[in-house]
Amino acid sequence: DVVTMDKIVALCKRRGFVFPASEIYGGIANTYDYGHYGVLLKNNVKAEWWRAMLQDRDDIVALDSAIIQHPRVWQSSGHLAGFSDPLVQCLGKCKKRYRLDHLQEAAVEAGEDPALVRCPTCGGELSEPREFNLMFKTQIGTVEDTASTVYLRPETAQGIFVDFKQVLAISRKKPPFGIAQIGKSFRNEITPGNFIFRTLEFEQMEMEFFVPPAESTEWYEHWKQARFDWYTELGVRESHLRLRPHEDDELSHYSSRTADVEYLFPIGWSELEGVADRGDFDLSAHAAGAKTKIEVFDEASGERYVPHVIEPAAGCDRATLAFLVDAYDEETLEGGDVRTVLRLHPRLAPVKVAVFPLVKKDGQPELAKEVRDSLRRVGQTDYDEAGAIGKRYRRQDEIGTPWCVTVDHQSLEDRTVTVRDRDSLEQVRVAIDDLPSLFAGRLAERW
Ligand code: GAP
Repeated sequence: DVVTMDKIVALCKRRGFVFPASEIYGGIANTYDYGHYGVLLKNNVKAEWWRAMLQDRDDIVALDSAIIQHPRVWQSSGHLAGFSDPLVQCLGKCKKRYRLDHLQEAAVEAGEDPALVRCPTCGGELSEPREFNLMFKTQIGTVEDTASTVYLRPETAQGIFVDFKQVLAISRKKPPFGIAQIGKSFRNEITPGNFIFRTLEFEQMEMEFFVPPAESTEWYEHWKQARFDWYTELGVRESHLRLRPHEDDELSHYSSRTADVEYLFPIGWSELEGVADRGDFDLSAHAAGAKTKIEVFDEASGERYVPHVIEPAAGCDRATLAFLVDAYDEETLEGGDVRTVLRLHPRLAPVKVAVFPLVKKDGQPELAKEVRDSLRRVGQTDYDEAGAIGKRYRRQDEIGTPWCVTVDHQSLEDRTVTVRDRDSLEQVRVAIDDLPSLFAGRLAERW
């Protein structure tokens, strides 16, 4: 019951959610653009994350730090030295480059000896592995006037650590408390990305939760569960989600324990989000690197300490892909027709309500437009008067619109309309004046 990636890619392209970037030039590897419905969907994913971090709690504040930081940030954080993948190049005909660890994993899965891997394309011998840093480099200033090398951030987290003192001083918060940020990160990934699962630029939704060291286990457990629940509350099937602790040899250079929230993607179980115990690694590293004290005063003990960090780090694009995959359904209707429907949670759906006149005459378009205007502040709406009503319903099903409102002959007499439910296909008659509160209520509900 997992849809193929091809079907998701085709739907995304057909309806303009996501498509290859620079396509008129043949595209560029692992890079995609989001169209209208894709932007709306991704905005909703981000809004739900902010809601969970800020609106539903009192212990997290927001931040939007710069993509280009002082280069020493990446020296202190360990990314200059440690944020690399082992690459090998084919010495045979094709000269392609691969990540050695990925080739070895595939060999183990196929029951072959990982020490004897060869080029999967042409069978050639492979070079010795070379560590390849994933950070994109650029420069400030021109090359002629002593340009300085800077990096596009590979994670948003470091901006949070670097600003910790500043936020602590002005936010009137003390550990346990968190700093949350959404923004683009960049990685020079060479592995074919499987659509928007792995791309060169992507949006991260990261929250660094600063705790007294003795509380780190408690908060690690809290955030694993809270992040798992965020997906299920937004409608992801629990049977397609799991929490998987990392083995020791998988841990990042900064983490003592990590668990991934994994989703059953069309490519198999894969990381959706990581929850890591970063200890005091980052704050201590920046304190040393910037030659400053980064500490918190504990009134109870009268002592200063360096907080530990529990980090839930999610990918917005990857979450968007998981929501799309999980919502995709092909339903056989009575009479044998098959409809494609995205059963997205209404809060994630790009369009909440679509409004149609049944026919394009007799005052129905005018009344339908009036209805549509009355719903603009409830959420994103669509208006469509072109073509057969059945086709218009199907189009909305494909983009996951939970409710369609149809204005018909009777509407002009009694100011009622039909409301069609995407999932049950049930149609009920509702007074036009009741629509805003009906939909606002449905959107505020927990599903
Ligand atoms: N600050 C911790 C950190 O960056 P990560 O596991 O490397 O940890 C966190 O990244 C999340 O960011 C991942 O779980 C994934 O959802 C997303 N992510 C990472 N690299 C990505 C890429 N190349 N394309 C899309 N999403 C990516």
